[in-house]
Amino acid sequence: MIMGGSKRVRAEPRTPKADEIPIDVEATGVTRARYDRVAPLYDFYEGLMEALFFRSWRRLVWEVVKEHLRRLAPAEGVVKPRLLEVGVGTGKNLPHYPESVEAVAIDISEKMLERARKRAQKLKKPVALLPMDAQALAFPDEAFDAVVATFVFCSVPDPVLGLREINRVLKPHGRAVLLEHMRPRSERLGKIFDLFNPIAVRLTGANINRRTAENVQKAGLEIESVRDLSAQGIVKLIVARKGPDEGASDKEAEHERS
Ligand SMILES: C[S@@+](CC[C@H](N)C(=O)[O-])C[C@H]1O[C@@H](n2cnc3c(N)ncnc32)[C@H](O)[C@@H]1O
Repeated sequence: MIMGGSKRVRAEPRTPKADEIPIDVEATGVTRARYDRVAPLYDFYEGLMEALFFRSWRRLVWEVVKEHLRRLAPAEGVVKPRLLEVGVGTGKNLPHYPESVEAVAIDISEKMLERARKRAQKLKKPVALLPMDAQALAFPDEAFDAVVATFVFCSVPDPVLGLREINRVLKPHGRAVLLEHMRPRSERLGKIFDLFNPIAVRLTGANINRRTAENVQKAGLEIESVRDLSAQGIVKLIVARKGPDEGASDKEAEHERS
């Protein structure tokens, strides 16, 4: 059980279903090691982009989350909504967490989590910060009223697997709110991004050519809205609701993996 407020969210390993796509343990280990390595410098090298763009985009994300949670209270009788942040990193979204939620945040990198823990302490945010793989969330089905991820599915080795997990843990009235960068709209530019992707991955751990909006659908989530926040639709704010099934439609399809 995880502490997080008056109620508690269970974090228990679940039994994998027979038809589940296996996790690429090696690629996941590489991602973890990469973020462990960059953790001490992460806030520094993201600083300029954070100040110029990310900060205002984060505000938009949390406006959507807060509006969703506000609407839930009377409609669904949810007194203390459960919020999950996937890939919390160094905790840059922590200042935005609403007071009224029971918050849990996970990341694959213990070193990134260490930074997030310090930030949570400083901000006095009651949040359970747990080492966990987005591709195999240790939460029961339908555990959360809202799931947030910002700039995460560019680096999760199998993004569809991770997004399917989000679909699984969302309550039926839940929403996933995702801020992600992805392959540009223009095919010509997209091909250039494809060309440079291996270098980007090596340098930063992030794929620059993921088709994340499509991956959200492949994972079985139902897209409610997609808002382009930058030129070429490279950065998008995606709001999705729980789909009828955990990506059943795409279990056989080829996955975009790194
Ligand atoms: C680009 S950082 C973004 C951090 C934070 N969300 C932000 O907006 O600043 C990507 C984060 O995703 C985490 N991550 C990558 N793959 C993951 C996985 N499979 N499970 C959980 N976290 C993962 C990384 O460790 C890293 O902290």
